[in-house]
Amino acid sequence: TEPKNIGELIQKAETTHTLSKEEIVALLIDTQYEEEFFAAADRVRKAYVGDEVHLRGLIEFSNICKQNCLYCGLRRDNKNVKRYRLKPDEIVDFAAKAKSYGYRTVVLQSGEDDCFDTETMVCLIRKIKELDLAITLSVGEKSRAVYEKYRDAGADRYLLRIETTDKELYEKLDPGMSWDNRARCLRDLKELGFELGTGSMVGLPGQTVESLADDILFFKEIDADMLGIGPFIPNPDTPLAGESGGTFEMSTKVVAMLRLLMPDINIPATTAMESLNPRGRVLALQRGANVVMPNVTEGEYRQMYLLYPGKICINDTPAHCRSCITGKIQGIGRKVSETHGFRVKRA
Ligand code: 5AD
Ligand code: SF4
Ligand code: FES
Repeated sequence: TEPKNIGELIQKAETTHTLSKEEIVALLIDTQYEEEFFAAADRVRKAYVGDEVHLRGLIEFSNICKQNCLYCGLRRDNKNVKRYRLKPDEIVDFAAKAKSYGYRTVVLQSGEDDCFDTETMVCLIRKIKELDLAITLSVGEKSRAVYEKYRDAGADRYLLRIETTDKELYEKLDPGMSWDNRARCLRDLKELGFELGTGSMVGLPGQTVESLADDILFFKEIDADMLGIGPFIPNPDTPLAGESGGTFEMSTKVVAMLRLLMPDINIPATTAMESLNPRGRVLALQRGANVVMPNVTEGEYRQMYLLYPGKICINDTPAHCRSCITGKIQGIGRKVSETHGFRVKRA
């Protein structure tokens, strides 16, 4: 068949939700038809997931991590972070507050901190479940048996970004970790019935547009229910301090592409996007995203969970963020969802 022009590719994506790797690459590198491309993603978002934006209250409960990812401020070799670990009671307390702000989901996120063993996590999940909240876990790589215990305790969703599908690049950036094991985790989680969240960083050193296209095809193949995409932002306290980082534009292009190709999934407008652009989350919501994850961690801990520099909201209270984000959502004619916000399969 004849090579298609960009307008035809956008139309194909919008109507068939399928593109080849070459077609994805062509759309990602195009700069002439960006507005049309974003508009198509926004139409698909409206048609499939509507105007509601789901808010997920994020609790960053430990910044202690045994891993040493080259890009991340929480890596174990970074001595410039004050480490903290919340007590289970404090975490339940933050979850109860998240509920009082109207959030229907809490995301429990931490570094890979073995102090939170299976028993502690199971107990925590059970207590939070009593609040009638959906629970998303984001605590790293575990065995299938452990994931099964989390699920049986009541966890609904799991976030584990693949970071990049370029296995060689992944293993260079995450020393001591195995790409195959990470992919194994994702398949186990999906099979166990979790809503599966994954995603990648955009603009990693050595990452190509072809590799981003591979990421997108991988997400489709694994049938991810949620996809978190954000720019890589170099952290001065890490070995990647001198690298250049990803752009806001390319990050939102990946979001738009995912909305076109996986029309019914949940896609957050990520914090990292807003760290590069003061209107980043609102723009992402207008380019395919339908979820925001406001931070509900209180007090000094917020400043201490620094994956990358320039993180937003580190000096704001949960109550402030709640009204701030509600205002932004209403300001673009969208509404805050009152449901738990599970994926509604329509594809
Ligand atoms: N820039 C952007 N995102 C980062 N993450 C970690 N370090 C950085 C950084 N420097 C992301 C990873 C991880 C998520 C919790 O934060 O994708 O999965
Ligand atoms: Fe730890 Fe996650 Fe940071 Fe890697 S990205 S160092 S696993 S917190
Ligand atoms: Fe935290 Fe706007 S969402 S200040």
